[in-house]
Amino acid sequence: MNPRVIEWNDSGGVRYLDQTLLPHEAVHCDADTIDEMIEAIKALRVRGAPLIGIAAAMGLAAAAAKLESQDLTKQWIDDAIARLGAARPTAVNLIWALDRMHEVATELLANGSDAPTVVNALRAAAQKIWDDDVAMCRAIGEAGAELIPQGATVMTHCNAGALATGGIGTALGAIYVAHERGKQVKVVSCETRPLRQGARLTSWELTQAGVPVTAIVDSAAAWVIARGDINLIVTGADRIAANGDVANKIGTYGLAVLARAHEVPFYVAAPRSTFDLALASGDAIPIEERGAEEVGAAPGAKVYNPAFDVTPAEYVTGIVTDRGVLRPPYEKSIAAIF
Ligand code: MRU
Repeated sequence: MNPRVIEWNDSGGVRYLDQTLLPHEAVHCDADTIDEMIEAIKALRVRGAPLIGIAAAMGLAAAAAKLESQDLTKQWIDDAIARLGAARPTAVNLIWALDRMHEVATELLANGSDAPTVVNALRAAAQKIWDDDVAMCRAIGEAGAELIPQGATVMTHCNAGALATGGIGTALGAIYVAHERGKQVKVVSCETRPLRQGARLTSWELTQAGVPVTAIVDSAAAWVIARGDINLIVTGADRIAANGDVANKIGTYGLAVLARAHEVPFYVAAPRSTFDLALASGDAIPIEERGAEEVGAAPGAKVYNPAFDVTPAEYVTGIVTDRGVLRPPYEKSIAAIF
């Protein structure tokens, strides 16, 4: 399944699938400047932790290519990276990708390389970030598929699939590989209020790929799990602390608690670019708050709209990474793959 989520356009800019219009329309838009890429990321036209890192890196390379040679300075790079990095605060993949780009640019600028050399290197570095994500998704998919029994029904939340990454996805990557291997897996996709990524995006991409999917509203999850209909839950992640605490889309923590109450395994799938070993625990993970208009409350009501929550490591059965499935104690198993 290749929905052309992101690509280079003919003029060296970035073309992306506008995910706010799915599932009704698959419209591609171009971002040629830093401001256009920031807008696309903030508005969730481009979304999902690995994909926003890839998009920001490509956007930086594309915008650098359009500058006059004398304008491609360390100051410009520092400023563009700071602005792109501030577009969304929770997914560490954004910072991870931009740090890689920063290293490439500053080293070349420091040794006096000319602008075309820097531009070529930035494009190659962005492409490598994308290629690495494709490989990490595949590895996660293969490790995760082992955890999915024949004929299983798997619950997922939000969208951690091809639409959220450069490859086959993380949580959905495991499902795609299980499907490829003939495991006859079925998916229950939680709606994911308020922006409905589970209902709009996960059900769209699974349907395109021929994987049977049932969409439910978020408030049906407890009942569906309690009925014994779910064999395991797997979600993506936006940032994982050194102790295994996991930030992911709001509602993930509730599913993890339900999974514990009903003895259903709860897995998280993420590449190494999602780990933030500088943070000892999830307490320090910045949680994005989004606008009141997403919730649709009555005018005059206060609205609190956190986009992510943190699931304590103790609720996580295993973390599926591109280096295999990690088990508790996570301090040790996470440190071992870095
Ligand atoms: O706000 P979004 O749609 O960017 O949130 C996405 C998620 O929470 C995903 O589960 C996460 O980024 C992992 S994507 C492989």
